[in-house]
Amino acid sequence: FGDRSLAGLKVLVSAGPTYEDIDPVRFIGNRSSGRMGFAVAEAAAQAGAEVTLVAGPVSLTTPAGVAQRVDVRSAAQMHAAVLAAAQADIYIGAAAVGDYRPLEVSAQKLKKHDGGELTLRLGENPDILASLSAQTAHPFLVGFAAETHDVASYAQGKLRHKGLDMIAANQVGGGLGFEAADNALTLYWADGTVELPRTSKAELARRLIAHVAERYRATRG
Ligand code: PMT
Repeated sequence: FGDRSLAGLKVLVSAGPTYEDIDPVRFIGNRSSGRMGFAVAEAAAQAGAEVTLVAGPVSLTTPAGVAQRVDVRSAAQMHAAVLAAAQADIYIGAAAVGDYRPLEVSAQKLKKHDGGELTLRLGENPDILASLSAQTAHPFLVGFAAETHDVASYAQGKLRHKGLDMIAANQVGGGLGFEAADNALTLYWADGTVELPRTSKAELARRLIAHVAERYRATRG
């Protein structure tokens, strides 16, 4: 039961990694399991929101109460799926979106050749959050930042540069963040910050959603 702080609102959540194909059997990916984003989607649904979940390649079942799930593979597909569902009130980007993709995707399996280096040419992927914030009418935007060092300054930089309403920063490593069952977050917005100490991703997601609802009501409500 709990609070119904998002009743009547549409919430769009992205979760998981993206896979950028190199050839039919290889890709560039990352360690995101989708657990944090799926927990956020579940917590938003528990808070009464109509939730659309855009998921990268993960092996998780759809959380109870989530109205719609769209499965994607690459950053380009995630970008298109998020923009297609962007008439939401709130977007929470928990996905670890690949920043780069191979410029040439080989139709055939690349073969090993003698004594050599293999060079992959990579091109930059579009930034989903930045695309949304560039639109005149856009959802309340919540980003995540996963950093190994200088977490606060990188997170606050992303808050400003990507034009976000809030960012949830997590430290990578020490049994937290990617793949782990637990996480800890520091939330930043233009004139405030709050620490959400280490706990399960489910509990952390509920606390995050409570702060998102409060900031949403304060600025848009
Ligand atoms: O999935 P889990 O195993 O549970 O792990 C959770 C998590 C660590 C992946 C999650 O808590 C998290 O931090 N997600 C963001 C990971 C990340 O790498 O963020 P970033 O610093 O690269 O990107 C910052 C923000 O911009 C993110 O909200 C991201 O979704 C967004 N972004 C990034 C690149 C891009 N092309 N488009 C984007 O919208």
